[in-house]
Amino acid sequence: MNRRNPKQNQVDRLGYATHANSAASIEVLEISKSACEAISRHATQVAREFPDGIEKQSRAMANAGASILEQFIPEGTAALRKLSQFGKTVCVHLKGVAELPVPATPTSGSIDDRKIAAHDLVLAGALRIAGTDPIAFDFENSGLIARNVVANPAGRGKASSHGFDVMLFWHQDNCGQPFKGEPLDSNLPPMPVQLAFAGIRNHEQVPTRVLLVDDLLAIMPTAIRDILAQPLFRIGAPDSVAADGNGNLAIQNAPILRMDGSAWKMRYDPNLVTASTDAACAANEWLKLALSICKEKARDIIVNAGDLLVFQNYQLMHMRVAFEPLAPEQSRWLRRFYGS
Ligand SMILES: [Fe+2]
Repeated sequence: MNRRNPKQNQVDRLGYATHANSAASIEVLEISKSACEAISRHATQVAREFPDGIEKQSRAMANAGASILEQFIPEGTAALRKLSQFGKTVCVHLKGVAELPVPATPTSGSIDDRKIAAHDLVLAGALRIAGTDPIAFDFENSGLIARNVVANPAGRGKASSHGFDVMLFWHQDNCGQPFKGEPLDSNLPPMPVQLAFAGIRNHEQVPTRVLLVDDLLAIMPTAIRDILAQPLFRIGAPDSVAADGNGNLAIQNAPILRMDGSAWKMRYDPNLVTASTDAACAANEWLKLALSICKEKARDIIVNAGDLLVFQNYQLMHMRVAFEPLAPEQSRWLRRFYGS
């Protein structure tokens, strides 16, 4: 689809709009069938060399996965590499990277990682090229690297990455932690720099809705921005941390926005923020309202089976719409790694 119109938005190769008032962009590349076949074949073979799986061999798997991607998709590799610095490219969606056998969706949230090792190899490789490595926090996701984003029947009615029928509102993952390099008085490690998703199954065509922080800032009054950049907020723990019994973890006297070099960084989840002054409270309310009416600035990315999505956590907000999953074994499944 080509909707080029200089008076409206720029449109990239596959039709994702890049708003003219934003320097940041989302890159989308369709991988050729022949490259997909080669990656799938090599990933399947090489994954057998890592019998202990992603939790124990993540660095070696990232190395091996990166080598395969570099060999067969140089253009995709170049796009991912742009994420290694804070700059114009904020999100990369590679479509049709691999076609791999997939077990039934683990709606409980856990699976024997060896069954999905080839996917993990490619996903870890994408993060490595983007400049980070897969990480785990000992207070979140049971201390594991891999999180299966699935529709867990027990998640009905919950706004969680294991939920489905309730919208998971705009947020940035683990926003209750310092930015990387931020001199904040906290013992917590930095919030993940990048998020990476492998599409395992998405017959329901559930979009991952994203919003560039730059696009949000473009409609934000300067007075609001200046308050959000002051250390006037407590930002608490997300669901995946609270589920591990660590709901008390939070950062105090923290800003929501931080200018770092030439880019604004942001950390936010309206459900996790408490403001310490009247002005901070008002700015927080403005932000919540802006996010609830920002749909025209947002865009929907459908991460299909075989796709990879990697983005900068500090420069992109994301959310999931409510949906009704198919039968459990065929229901939506994304594999998520944090990169830092
Ligand atoms: Fe999230």
